[in-house]
Amino acid sequence: MVTGESGAPDLLITGIGELTTNVSTPDDVCGTIHDAAVLVRAGIVAWTGPTAEAPDAASAVPVVDVDGAAVTPGFVDSHTHLVFGGDRSAEFVARMAGRPYAAGGIRSTVAATRSATDAELRARLRALVAELRPQGTTTFEIKTGYGLTVADEERLARLAREVTEEVTFLGAHVVPEEFQDDPDAYVDLVAGPMLDAVASHCRWIDVFCERGAFTPAQADRVLAAGAARGLGIRVHGNQLGPGEGVRLAVARGAASVDHGTYLDDVDIAALAGSDTVLTLLPGVEFSTRQPYPDARALWDAGVTIALASDCNPGSSFTSSMPLMIALAVREMGLTPDEAVWAATAGGAAALRREDVGVLRPGARADLVVLRAPTRAYLAYRPGVPLIEGVLIGGRGVAGSALSAVRRS
Ligand code: NIG
Ligand code: FE
Repeated sequence: MVTGESGAPDLLITGIGELTTNVSTPDDVCGTIHDAAVLVRAGIVAWTGPTAEAPDAASAVPVVDVDGAAVTPGFVDSHTHLVFGGDRSAEFVARMAGRPYAAGGIRSTVAATRSATDAELRARLRALVAELRPQGTTTFEIKTGYGLTVADEERLARLAREVTEEVTFLGAHVVPEEFQDDPDAYVDLVAGPMLDAVASHCRWIDVFCERGAFTPAQADRVLAAGAARGLGIRVHGNQLGPGEGVRLAVARGAASVDHGTYLDDVDIAALAGSDTVLTLLPGVEFSTRQPYPDARALWDAGVTIALASDCNPGSSFTSSMPLMIALAVREMGLTPDEAVWAATAGGAAALRREDVGVLRPGARADLVVLRAPTRAYLAYRPGVPLIEGVLIGGRGVAGSALSAVRRS
């Protein structure tokens, strides 16, 4: 088998019943090609188009025929908190019996994370990565935020960096107990020595701007310090109630503001006129019993929407992007096409990435083969394992459809 520079084998995937390229047109946000093929060379998409028009050169490479299956770009999960210790299932059970979700629960994970060894955190992290890949996630972001000391935030960032290049410093997740009486002193620590310790591992800085976490002024101080160190900006905002998070994110030129459960018209207008993506996290509304935001209205207002899992032990302990698509369609009013776009190209936009979330020449060969004829099945058959094969950078990482490439 021919292998390119990346070490990944060259490959022609044929027999794709419905190919989602995300090369959008006014009538088709997903840029669909029917009866399609994808040529992969050296881990990169070299060509896409109707099988009948595959370039002559493609005849020299191994062929995998997927027999009418739908193929989409790999899912881009732009918001997770995968490095943590402990268990909060009892909190979930109490919520389902009527207790509300509160930001303070984060502190119990902080205590468990601080007392875990690197090896324990790494084992949990790797298990979650092994869980998300066969579900079609090919790019994922990870936040720190359960350490909240200089040493603990540094090790969470370092561990996260072992499995992804999209690492976010979230020292401003919640004010830890030991700073309860002097939150501004904690903000000084985050914006100073803690940022210094983590910056080399991170691409992004994030802050939880919410009642019970950080005020807009504190949040802005943290974001300004991160920006001065060259980190890109993300914000957790408008999750537990209306507030300044979205407006702060837009004013700071954030790549994304995440949650957006409680938005008013001013927030929506600010987002629609900006480059800031709104990352919706339907797993949170699902597992905290909060109201789902109206993604239909947001999309129609011109807001760029991403979908992410927010995988974390408190508010959304799922790594399933297909579930996010199903919830966004059923509960938030997106069409299946819009939801699939938001879980792929939308996530890429939230991470300011042009090489993923799209299947066009030059993009990374990250794709998902579905055990289904169309992408709509991701919402139409919720809870059913529909991921037949996953390719990351041209290598098969999961599923039988692409096992030929995995073995090589
Ligand atoms: O994105 N909003 C803040 N952080 C997480 C929740 C973390 C937790 O409850 O442990 C979130 O929902
Ligand atoms: Fe989060």
